[in-house]
Amino acid sequence: MCGIVGYIGSRDAYPIIINGLKRLEYRGYDSAGFILNYSEGMEVVKTKGKVADLETKSEGKKLSANIGVGHTRWATHGEPNDVNSHPHVSTNGEIVLVHNGIIENYDSIKTKLQEEGFTFQSETDSEVLVNLIEYFKKSENLDLAEAVRYALNEVVGAYAIAVLDNSNTDEIVVGRLGSPLAIGMGDNEFFIASDASPFVEFTKDAIYLEDGEMASISRENGVVVKKIVENEIISPSIQKLHLDLEQIEKGGFEHFMLKEIYEQPKSIHDTMRGRLLPEEGIIKMAGIWDHMEKFRNAKRIIIVACGTSWHAGLVGEYLIEEFARIPVEVEYASEFRYRNPIINKDDIVIAISQSGETADTLAALKLAKANGAFIYGICNVVGSSIARLTDAGSFTHAGPEIGVASTKAFTSQLTILTLIALKLGKHNGNLSNEKFMSLCYELESLPTKVEKALKTDALVQEISEVYKDAKNALYLGRGYNFPTALEGALKLKEISYIHAEGYPAAEMKHGPIALIDENMPVIVIAPKKGHYDKVVSNVQEIKARKGQIIAVVTEGDEQVKNIADHVIEIPDCSEEFSPILASIPLQLLSYHIAVMLDRNVDQPRNLAKSVTVE
Ligand code: F6R
Repeated sequence: MCGIVGYIGSRDAYPIIINGLKRLEYRGYDSAGFILNYSEGMEVVKTKGKVADLETKSEGKKLSANIGVGHTRWATHGEPNDVNSHPHVSTNGEIVLVHNGIIENYDSIKTKLQEEGFTFQSETDSEVLVNLIEYFKKSENLDLAEAVRYALNEVVGAYAIAVLDNSNTDEIVVGRLGSPLAIGMGDNEFFIASDASPFVEFTKDAIYLEDGEMASISRENGVVVKKIVENEIISPSIQKLHLDLEQIEKGGFEHFMLKEIYEQPKSIHDTMRGRLLPEEGIIKMAGIWDHMEKFRNAKRIIIVACGTSWHAGLVGEYLIEEFARIPVEVEYASEFRYRNPIINKDDIVIAISQSGETADTLAALKLAKANGAFIYGICNVVGSSIARLTDAGSFTHAGPEIGVASTKAFTSQLTILTLIALKLGKHNGNLSNEKFMSLCYELESLPTKVEKALKTDALVQEISEVYKDAKNALYLGRGYNFPTALEGALKLKEISYIHAEGYPAAEMKHGPIALIDENMPVIVIAPKKGHYDKVVSNVQEIKARKGQIIAVVTEGDEQVKNIADHVIEIPDCSEEFSPILASIPLQLLSYHIAVMLDRNVDQPRNLAKSVTVE
């Protein structure tokens, strides 16, 4: 988490840093700060709060330097306050650093540095690193880049850092291990950022540092990339960015989340574009096709992911087992990585991650790779760490997702999993050509059905008004829509702070039914396919206990309509596709309730979009 942005060139660095921090604020928004470096000294401004607070605090300061770095923080060590905010300055005031990540051995280093006379103002691990750099610079008489390299060889943990020397206005030194860092290559000007969004309007050329790499960036010498341990200069590849400014702006919507909910007909279409070709009778996916032998021989697929992506994985399990008849296990990446899992050479481990940077998912994949499994990535962010680590993969192409609560990335993950399951099913002979073709044609019509599902917005808003003051909510679904229930509950709790739980509907009577009374809203996902009749029985059980029922049903449904307090109709579709359509009103429900409660919808408290710490 945390966002880093920096600039060196001939423009004013301040507006680039501030605008960049605003774009990176999704990564953390506990505090923010920047350093601007002048030949006559540096200006460091930092504050608890948002980038907007930083702007206010900067008024009246000298803001005309053309080198500087900024930081937006998601607190790990030390509470969010002014002192713990970044940048951190070394004891003699010479070195300045911003850091994203965690230094695990900071305590022992801190003790040694204190013995050497270093002093500390904050409770952060990052301040230990900046002092360690100063220590090596002085004691070994090193230049900045070499002192950074020495220090990075001492620390254990994860980092993306940017470091400046107060006395040198022509160098920023950066390094990465486990946290992302991109360098934008302009014309004798350079940008650094945790992702490319802060510099997309200035350059389309970027270097993504790999783990264990650092770079010295200056106007005079350009970008010199080195391996930290080996001390070897390398020539990095420069990648072309396919990102437009309008993709990362709100486009007239009040919140990014609402914009992203409304983008889903397009994002789902983009996920299928060039892949789903029913007229030719095929699904084209190079990542699968090039490794079809591996998939054909796989004894098992293990899906690892976190949060919403894990919910997508659960739907993936139903899809792949149904269409391809390959056994699938879905694991929380954070559990998988630490429980000594059994991984065989003919296992395929699929990681699902919007950001492609989630620390636990990345670690789970590394473990799987080390144990000889074939690793496959389903990521949204091109160039992300997971995308680069995997043997093969498929991008979801949902476009940048800025709202912290995942919406369009989730439905694109479901779409890609459907494509994979259908393709595997066709190629291993489990799916008849007739069934394959009819599902492909239906899939093609999904964006239009999502558009229709979005028309429930006004009704969902009315329902939100009724339940916005609820203290708890229960989400129930069966089969494919059990994960939909989990996802609906997560969406509500993360942005409205209302306690919500998702359950398989039939599990209700094994405990949660005790919670039901006239104050409990129960959101039931009951499309007219699959286990519809069983879900209707569950709805009856809730009604008998006076629960308030909000049912998501297939259009034209009469049975549930007669029992439920509110029904939200979604278009008819095969059961396998219903999680995509049912998720739309659930996303809208959480959105409207959160807005009515005056929550910060795009940046809910305590959260960050990209969880790069474990
Ligand atoms: C919830 C949400 C999170 C993420 C989780 C994994 O709305 O967005 O639960 O799904 O942090 O993130 P990625 O998919 O980037 O690995």
